[in-house]
Amino acid sequence: MKVTAIGAGYVGLVTGACLAEMGNHVVCLDVDEDKIRILNSGDIPIHEPGLLEIVQRNVKAGRLQFTSDAAHAVQHGTLLFVGVGTPPGSDGSADLRHVVAAARSIGRVMTDYKVVVDKSTVPVGTADAVRAAIREELDARGLPDMPYAVVSNPEFLKEGAAVEDFMKPDRIIIGADDEQATLLMRALYAPFNRTQDRMQIMDVRSAEFTKYAANAMLATRISFMNELALLAEKVGADIELVRRGIGSDPRIGYQFLYAGAGYGGSCFPKDVKALVRTAADNGISLKVLSAVEAANERQKRVLVDKVVERFGEDLRGRRFAMWGLAFKPDTDDMREAPSLVIIDELTRRGATVAAYDPVALAEAARVLGPRDDVTLVKRAEVALQGADALLIVTEWKEFRTPDFDAIKAVLKAPVVLDGRNLYEPKLMKALGIDYRGIGRRCLSTVPA
Ligand code: UDX
Repeated sequence: MKVTAIGAGYVGLVTGACLAEMGNHVVCLDVDEDKIRILNSGDIPIHEPGLLEIVQRNVKAGRLQFTSDAAHAVQHGTLLFVGVGTPPGSDGSADLRHVVAAARSIGRVMTDYKVVVDKSTVPVGTADAVRAAIREELDARGLPDMPYAVVSNPEFLKEGAAVEDFMKPDRIIIGADDEQATLLMRALYAPFNRTQDRMQIMDVRSAEFTKYAANAMLATRISFMNELALLAEKVGADIELVRRGIGSDPRIGYQFLYAGAGYGGSCFPKDVKALVRTAADNGISLKVLSAVEAANERQKRVLVDKVVERFGEDLRGRRFAMWGLAFKPDTDDMREAPSLVIIDELTRRGATVAAYDPVALAEAARVLGPRDDVTLVKRAEVALQGADALLIVTEWKEFRTPDFDAIKAVLKAPVVLDGRNLYEPKLMKALGIDYRGIGRRCLSTVPA
């Protein structure tokens, strides 16, 4: 089939590449000429496991092209996936400027039947706005009878596992009110739906809502566990044992119950805010979700609280090693990353930070800009040199079994503050490391 992906970011690029892999002919469009230049040079602008290989293979096979020429891209596809950004506006609502601009660019050049597929996470009712924008452009061109359909097909891709998630989806949600569009979408996704039927066809509004509901539920689980972790520390319980204890109930399940330094990324913070906003616009106050967001803001500062507890408010002359900058492992994405809040809070109190991340250093340099109080280093051990404590912010695999003796030897004092609960408190105690996790018992015998 002929497919166009509008927006060559995470969503558009993964969608385009994975659809090309199944034999479709795909054109990816982006207004960012730099991005298109990188893609046309045989590279990809993001770090995503497995994606580069798929892109290169399909470009070579002639099934995948990149362009900034909107007219060419729109004319190419029968199915036009819109995967552009929907950043939060100042009031928390999703900013639909790019989605509507994409719709208009479709309406301005289309000459035959198109299925416009909303893949970006967009508030309930956006498909109507997309439909109206296309209609206006068609009317302006004197083509009021030109047929098209607008479909909602939310993505559930996790960064770092996006290719895997696309190729082996848990569910394929298709919101469509048009029979021909439903048939085309079924055919397009048939190769991803072979072992068991994972396709759920529903009305457009329910599909749009499903995406927000999924992310809101997941964010709720995390904030819930983070709050319980705060309490566990106070009452002397271990959140890791509690997690296992409750996860064994199949109604709860083990996944997504890890207490940590707070959730970040391009989805949870933005989608939770947007849903709260949509509710407010409809006269409903979502009390649980508002608390989820507030709890997460507090959680991003929990490691800083532990630093202050150990070293005092005045951190002038202190240096901290930070392992992990990306908002989670296997990505270089720094959006809403807890590391940024922690860096700000520590440096505001006068400390300096030496930070290491396996892949996000370049992105961190871009986001942080040049500054004297943060050094980005290329090796984990280098960050430790002369540091008062090690802070673990992202659970990259290479941090899971480090050389603890070396950590102890290089740090000024053996203090490890772990925002991702990577180590066993008992082992740390045996090694003589003053170790504090999130919601875990503090067994330290090392004097402060
Ligand atoms: C998420 C959804 O999982 C995905 O389905 C949706 O399409 C987009 O948003 P992503 O943002 O890539 O994906 O990351 P995810 O792996 O879900 O993690 C989100 C954040 O939650 C991370 O900051 C992570 O560290 C945190 N997290 C996750 C926890 O703190 N505890 C957990 O138990 C799980």
